[in-house]
Amino acid sequence: MNRVPHHPILGDEPPAKEVQIFVDGRPVAAREGEMIAAALIANGIFKFRYTPHAHKPRGVYCAIGRCTDCVMTVDGVPNIRTCITQVRDGMRVDTQHGMGAWQKGDGHDPN
Ligand code: FES
Repeated sequence: MNRVPHHPILGDEPPAKEVQIFVDGRPVAAREGEMIAAALIANGIFKFRYTPHAHKPRGVYCAIGRCTDCVMTVDGVPNIRTCITQVRDGMRVDTQHGMGAWQKGDGHDPN
């Protein structure tokens, strides 16, 4: 786990309920209320998407919702900025390739 249980200025990490998300189908533990990106990094996952043309990996860059480097497909919806989106128990988070695609069976499929 890549977490900071005690920070010299912010103090101890407050207790939080554990939830489970599924990253590329694999169960991953997360803290309720944290951002998806934080949960992934805490679990050693740093590649969130691959660029459309060069297929280069990307992860967190700005961490404030501005650069879109951290986008992933979340519950079947592509291009979700994971640094500003909170985890939800049972959430599906998938590595995004290129521009991403809407996934069927998620209730969001436009077709
Ligand atoms: S890391 Fe820049 S938008 Fe998420």
